[in-house]
Amino acid sequence: MSEAETVAADSGGERFDGPTIELRRVRKEYESGAGTVVALDDVDFGVQPGEFVAVVGPSGSGKSTLLNVLGLLDTPTSGLRLLRGRDVTSLDDEARTRARKDAIGFVFQDFFLIPSLTATENVELPTLFGDDPTATDRARDLLRRVGLGDRLDHTPNQLSGGQKQRVAIARALVNEPAVVLADEPTGNLDSDTGAQVLEEFRRICETGVSVVAVTHDPLVTEYADRTVELVDGRLGGVDDRHRSRPRPRPREADE
Ligand SMILES: Nc1ncnc2c1ncn2[C@@H]1O[C@H](COP(=O)(O)OP(=O)(O)OP(=O)(O)O)[C@@H](O)[C@H]1O
Ligand SMILES: [Mg+2]
Repeated sequence: MSEAETVAADSGGERFDGPTIELRRVRKEYESGAGTVVALDDVDFGVQPGEFVAVVGPSGSGKSTLLNVLGLLDTPTSGLRLLRGRDVTSLDDEARTRARKDAIGFVFQDFFLIPSLTATENVELPTLFGDDPTATDRARDLLRRVGLGDRLDHTPNQLSGGQKQRVAIARALVNEPAVVLADEPTGNLDSDTGAQVLEEFRRICETGVSVVAVTHDPLVTEYADRTVELVDGRLGGVDDRHRSRPRPRPREADE
């Protein structure tokens, strides 16, 4: 078995009780002409299964860096990174890609849908290298789940902003990830549409998937279980107010 397959086998399937994804004393430095930039400064961060965490902080505080490190797109300078308890701090490219595809879904502010493909084809896209005959059915099921059962064959230009983001969420879920990472997922949406997308994230959490959303949008923190703040690469200001508050109701309540 290759290293990549070992990671895939170990990170899938079996039950693990701890955090879905965890950083321990993670530091991320960038070298630039002007010297070393410390983008993440000894960050400890973990997300439990089914937990929705919002990450806020000023521009340049390290939010995108945090998502990239969590999403195995970038490697920490030092510290430890664990995915379902397995050390994934520094994998080779192939193992990293494999672990990412197996465990992590991404949602971005700009949706990043392929304009010439239908909603179903866009959702299927991350499975194409997997040669999976059930991919189309899975894509359609996911689109129905996010309320787009009547838009399966529409292309992105025939969809509203909120519908596009829900296609992007379905795409993030198609490989059954353990965690969904979102960078400003409501950044291009009005508040009503943003609320629909956030309800979608809540429903995802109810299935045991973890969600981490980086955001400037106060509405996201209303839906999150927990909000953390990054300032100059340091994580702090844990805000637990929302735990004691009634959560916005999922969609079933207003149907
Ligand atoms: N590839 C890179 N090379 C050098 N410095 C970088 C690189 N990427 C990020 N940085 C620096 O690291 C720090 C954190 O950047 P990051 O993009 O994580 O911030 P952010 O919180 O996402 O900001 P924003 O809210 O503006 O998106 C910044 O000082 C940034 O200039
Ligand atoms: Mg950013």
